[in-house]
Amino acid sequence: MMQPRVVAMEEGKEPISANKTNLSRALPSRLLVFCLLFLGVGVGVSIISMYSVRFSMVQQLATKATSAVQPLFQDDGTTIDNFIRPPSNLMHNMNDTELLWRASFVPQIKDYPFKRVPKIAFMFLTKGPLPLAPLWDRFFKGHEELYSIYVHALPSYTAGYPPSSPFYGRQIPSQMVEWGRMSMCEAERRLLANALLDISNEWFILLSESCIPLHNFSIIYHYISRSRHSFMGSFDEPGPYGRGRYNPHMEPEVTLSQWRKGSQWFEVNRKLAIDIVVDTTYYPKFKKFCHPACYVDEHYFPTMLTIQSPHLLANRTLTWTDWSRGGAHPATFGKADITEGFFKKIFEGQVCLYNGQPSTVCYLFARKFAPSALDPLLGLASKVFRY
Ligand SMILES: *[C@@H]1O[C@H](CO)[C@@H](O)[C@H](O)[C@H]1NC(C)=O
Ligand SMILES: *[C@@H]1O[C@H](CO)[C@@H](O)[C@H](O)[C@H]1NC(C)=O
Ligand SMILES: *[C@@H]1O[C@H](CO)[C@@H](O)[C@H](O)[C@H]1NC(C)=O
Repeated sequence: MMQPRVVAMEEGKEPISANKTNLSRALPSRLLVFCLLFLGVGVGVSIISMYSVRFSMVQQLATKATSAVQPLFQDDGTTIDNFIRPPSNLMHNMNDTELLWRASFVPQIKDYPFKRVPKIAFMFLTKGPLPLAPLWDRFFKGHEELYSIYVHALPSYTAGYPPSSPFYGRQIPSQMVEWGRMSMCEAERRLLANALLDISNEWFILLSESCIPLHNFSIIYHYISRSRHSFMGSFDEPGPYGRGRYNPHMEPEVTLSQWRKGSQWFEVNRKLAIDIVVDTTYYPKFKKFCHPACYVDEHYFPTMLTIQSPHLLANRTLTWTDWSRGGAHPATFGKADITEGFFKKIFEGQVCLYNGQPSTVCYLFARKFAPSALDPLLGLASKVFRY
């Protein structure tokens, strides 16, 4: 019963001569089956492989898509704005390792493809409240495009500024700080790293709760933005409070002739801020070999930056302090000290170098001022400081 059907099929393709045997008739039919089978398998394999190629392409695209949304910017990838906009919430959940790593990102193309208005980051290293905040409020008013504020207070302190205050929501995640210890430098690096997350910040000033601005915002912005140097105090001091704090174990990274001292209160530009944040060369040496009476906050940044970038440093601080009374702490001024004559003395008789030229404006900030100084300071601000 099968035979005629096979023959019929064969007959359809190939006329069979009458003298062909059964065997000779069976051979081509098997060949055909083989061919069809082969064709079928071939088509099947190619369909499967096409699908698998498409599938793996889809997979690849999918992994690309997920790795593009993973980065740290919460970026939807549609506009450059996602990379420019500063973090909306300063209270992130990154630990210091993650924060410093994130802050070390540097664009490799120097021209910004958007209008970048460079800002000054005012970084307040405090214990808790800022008693002189009302004076700073007046100083900042009207310059919102040109500054940002960061406050590092002790972790136990909760700030309660109203939404109208420039200090509202400007607290960063903090840790315990001990005077003269490495935890102080760590807090300063933490402030720098947080401020670096805003790509518009170009200059970084470290201040304390007892600091005041001696000039109005326009003068200060102009002075800092036009300077060819960063204002890091840095000098080579002979004697027990300078070279005497050096430890030879810091060699070869730091030699005695490279050892510097300077005021803790600095101003650095973005490049130097990143250099401080990424440092793993000098940090372990200072952490290990500079303990009180080596006050690490007076030596680490001045020494490190003088070794790395001496030409970028003005070697002087912008913050006036009165050390004339001697001792480990500078003078603190209260209500009774605040007079026009007091500030006249600070402003007069100062000469320093600014962009290589002699200048009579040497200090932009002053410390230390007690909370009781607030009212008389507010009274003098418009006349003496022009804000
Ligand atoms: C931060 O977290 C990462 C990942 O868990 C960890 O490797 C690192 O040691 C942590 N750093 C600090 C300072 O706790
Ligand atoms: C800032 O102070 C300078 C001089 O001290 C003054 O000429 C200028 O008008 C002041 N600017 C503002 C906005 O008050
Ligand atoms: C600051 O000091 C370094 C050496 O310690 C020097 O190379 C640099 O020129 C000084 N800066 C200025 C502005 O004089």
